[in-house]
Amino acid sequence: MSLPRLLLCLCLALPPPGQSLSLLPPDLLLSDGIRLFSRGDWPGARGRLQGALRSLAEVRGVKLRCGASCGLLGAPGRLEEAVLTRADCLRLCERLELGEPSLHRLTEETERGFQRGAPYNYLQIIHYKLEELDEAAAAAFTFYVRNPWHEQITQDVQRYRGMERVRAQSFRDLEEPSHRVLYSQAVSLLSEGKFGPAVSRLEESLSLALSALEECRTLCEGTRESENETHRDLSEVIAEYYVQVLQCKQRCVLEDSVRPGQKRAEEDIIESRLSLLQDGYARLGDWEAAAQIARCLLLFHPQNETMRERLQEYEGKLQDRSKPRESIISYVRRAVSEKRLLYYAMENLGISFHDRDSWTPEEVIPESLREKISMEKEAEGQNGGDLPYEEVTVTLTPKQMNGTSRVTLDGVMTEEECEDLLRLAQAAGGDGYKGRRSPNTPRERIQVLGVLRALQMASSGTVDPSHARLYYHASERSRVLAQSYFDTKTLHFSDTHLVCRSAIEGEQEERVDLSHPVHADNCVLDTEEKECWKEPPAYVHRDYSGILYLNDDFQGGDLFFTELDGTTVTAELRPRCGRLVLFSAGGENAYGVRAVTRGRGYAIVLWFTESAEHAEQERSQAKILMGESDSNKENTEKDAAEGGRETTRSGRETTRSGRETSATGEETSGRRQKKRASRKFEDEL
Ligand SMILES: *[C@@H]1O[C@H](CO)[C@@H](O)[C@H](O)[C@H]1NC(C)=O
Ligand SMILES: *[C@@H]1O[C@H](CO)[C@@H](O)[C@H](O)[C@H]1NC(C)=O
Ligand SMILES: *[C@@H]1O[C@H](CO)[C@@H](O)[C@H](O)[C@H]1NC(C)=O
Repeated sequence: MSLPRLLLCLCLALPPPGQSLSLLPPDLLLSDGIRLFSRGDWPGARGRLQGALRSLAEVRGVKLRCGASCGLLGAPGRLEEAVLTRADCLRLCERLELGEPSLHRLTEETERGFQRGAPYNYLQIIHYKLEELDEAAAAAFTFYVRNPWHEQITQDVQRYRGMERVRAQSFRDLEEPSHRVLYSQAVSLLSEGKFGPAVSRLEESLSLALSALEECRTLCEGTRESENETHRDLSEVIAEYYVQVLQCKQRCVLEDSVRPGQKRAEEDIIESRLSLLQDGYARLGDWEAAAQIARCLLLFHPQNETMRERLQEYEGKLQDRSKPRESIISYVRRAVSEKRLLYYAMENLGISFHDRDSWTPEEVIPESLREKISMEKEAEGQNGGDLPYEEVTVTLTPKQMNGTSRVTLDGVMTEEECEDLLRLAQAAGGDGYKGRRSPNTPRERIQVLGVLRALQMASSGTVDPSHARLYYHASERSRVLAQSYFDTKTLHFSDTHLVCRSAIEGEQEERVDLSHPVHADNCVLDTEEKECWKEPPAYVHRDYSGILYLNDDFQGGDLFFTELDGTTVTAELRPRCGRLVLFSAGGENAYGVRAVTRGRGYAIVLWFTESAEHAEQERSQAKILMGESDSNKENTEKDAAEGGRETTRSGRETTRSGRETSATGEETSGRRQKKRASRKFEDEL
């Protein structure tokens, strides 16, 4: 039990806030910052947390410098010797600059915490408490782009956006690498036709991106705790470790190409820059440079005909044949040789390797693995983005649903939550649950409840407030799922209905009509022409739709998709509590609902738009009502303190704690908070 004592001593040894902290280990500063945070010592916590970020940057800087000055592995001589010499050199170098290495070694979990930007979640609250609103907004935004499904931070960022005193330029990612800033600038310059400045930014962005990759790769070689004592054989130990380092290096290209706020890489960090550069140089009439870049791109895709033709075109205007750049040649060559090793290890040592590059030449992949890998790639394409909630699973992929941009998810709500929402619908409908006759069929009644209405009814005491809040959170959860599965821009609500369809007794014989006729959500379906016209009266700005089912104890009410003829059914689905069907809102997803012939079917129907101008007003009012009901400072604090933990576990918890908040309300004493904060801190580290 010497570790806790050691930590305690170190905590006591920390200098008072204000003094230079940057040479203390990042994890220690982080945990001390969280301790001060939970005591409400805002300036102290701010100093520690900012110090943690600085210290982390410094430790990385030292590692990079040491890595560079200790030379590369693979120097002439025997491998074992090279390895030992380098290890010795690194240790000495880091010790000289940082002190005892054990102090600066982060656990994987802490490392992940830093990657998720956890300190920024604390900092935003601290800045807010200290009335540093611009800094608060920037910190909140920085955390938000790394955790876009975090409901609390999403709300907080919105709240800052609503504050007049916060400047618009404060909403920026404090950790955005400069190659990305330059790249975005270049993209907009290109679109304005300013090719000269665009090209110079792209060149700079390309070279910064290459060095960022290099840094990331160097850090992969960092010393790591040995996790497994069972491997005794020297070559086995070396192989295992070397494979880990290679896997890490291959991931670098991915990590940097995923924009924060998105789940998947949309582009290759190097290819994307090259391809814009080629365009830019061609526009500028610089055929030599354009040809050179085209040759670089052909290194990635030697078979691409379009690219070959372009190259011929450029070279036709030149005297000599061009050559690709050295930097790109060596980049590709090295990547390919690492992939070869990893595939070898995959085939013979049974390690797993997930090659994310789309350009890997087929001959690099061992024949015995090709089929398996191509199947995995296909499945991945079908699986959409990663889902932010652990309990939610993809039950039917677009392919299984015989279409595109449609998916069925299960586990979005628990049985208990479904029941609470049924209670909400019943309470809102009053006794007897009359509803009006459905406009679509005279043999059903339909009742519709909006989110805002539900929250208003909660304020006036007609319905249980926790049920109304759950409705809000359920719709938010669905929005986040649509956004992450389809990997879209931010989705906004266009409308939300809690719908109940009930069969009218005695009017169900020989029924042939539908509960909802076949239609598409953002276009007018023309089954004769097999077209879908994107024009009014359709809601043309709706981009995605969702149906979240709450029960299945009724007859009929199945959802079905058809082709544009409105009759050829391609997929049919049975409702079920917690099942969310998401689909793009165009003609590719014409759908209808079968007649409900007995009982009542409940579902939340949602429409989303990518266009902020078409976001519904009601939602913002609902958000305000939601905000008011938990506006007391204590709760905000509590939510924030739990914030980090929620994301690590699951987004779902936010709803739970939201509900808890309204149930326990003001009881949240300072003491309990402290306990929560420190529990969180233990969880985190
Ligand atoms: C340690 O090695 C054993 C045997 O090879 C393996 O089963 C186990 O999963 C390893 N543990 C870790 C943490 O890597
Ligand atoms: C070939 O390159 C062009 C230009 O970069 C690109 O638009 C196209 O998608 C590529 N084709 C294939 C089959 O990769
Ligand atoms: C997709 O089509 C197949 C073959 O027609 C059918 O068996 C399957 O049930 C369809 N999928 C769904 C979700 O209805």
